[in-house]
Amino acid sequence: MRQIIIDCDPSPDDAVAFLLALASPEELNVLAITTVAGNVPLPLTSKNARKALELAKRTETPVYAGASAPLLRKLITAEHVHGRTGFDGYELPEPTMALTKGFAPEAIVDLVMQRKAGEVTLCCLAPLTNIALALAKEPRLGTHVREIVLMGGAFSEGGNITPAAEFNVFVDPEAAARVLSCGAPITMIPLDCTHQARTTNARMEKLRAFGTPVAEAFYHLLKFNKIFDEQKYGWEGGPLHDATVIAYLLAPEIFTGRKVYVNVECASPLTLGMTVVDWWGVTENPKNVQFLRDVNADRYFDLVIERLGRL
Ligand code: RIB
Ligand code: CA
Repeated sequence: MRQIIIDCDPSPDDAVAFLLALASPEELNVLAITTVAGNVPLPLTSKNARKALELAKRTETPVYAGASAPLLRKLITAEHVHGRTGFDGYELPEPTMALTKGFAPEAIVDLVMQRKAGEVTLCCLAPLTNIALALAKEPRLGTHVREIVLMGGAFSEGGNITPAAEFNVFVDPEAAARVLSCGAPITMIPLDCTHQARTTNARMEKLRAFGTPVAEAFYHLLKFNKIFDEQKYGWEGGPLHDATVIAYLLAPEIFTGRKVYVNVECASPLTLGMTVVDWWGVTENPKNVQFLRDVNADRYFDLVIERLGRL
């Protein structure tokens, strides 16, 4: 049983990730969901998280709101991908559940440090501002967590928000650099991996066939969410990025990668937010990241769809 905290900026792929975790109580215990500004501003990411929890009748899950802006930079959002609300494509009722009192970075510190070392896994699906702030409050966090598993970065796939940078890292590169040097065991799931895992029509129809409110809602939310990437890349379906983090905890064997040195460009205007990956070990730098470059997409969607069907 893993104790996990999920930090996110819900658009649908974030919500699928935490619903996948909540649908897996044999393997995972979700201590809290924390929200951050990213795909859309903080009020909307915090609202979307609660909309999805209410839909799935999981309102006992605490939701703490966190940072509304990156550490140093102006917030960059992605309404062009996810719509103005971040949950465009299907109307969900305004949430009635309240946010849990407290600032997400502080909640992360408390939830981790009040448990023994090596107990809590941080699942990071968004810009890493909350995690960096938690590390600022409690520098020992990095060596107290069991693991940090994050969706972010890219190697040979290139960027998705600039030619060089993946969105989560680009929005707050300083936060990403801080996390990568915090001393925790880090598993990174980059675009090289998530771009292999696309919401094709057959997979979406399989989800819809459950006929549950969750299946129907996420059929439509994901259908909207894939439009931008289908037009940009010419694919059928869009990448289901963030659920790979939870799928890794449930079925690590469907991923492959290697331990490498990774760092983040925080200065150059041309390549800001680029994750520089020493895949071939040409430096003596410490191998700080398990970098997962590939996934078995069919087994990934079999897992995600079957579990979502339970809600
Ligand atoms: O680049 C993909 C990431 O950006 C995902 O986490 C997606 O939800 C967006 O936040
Ligand atoms: Ca996200």
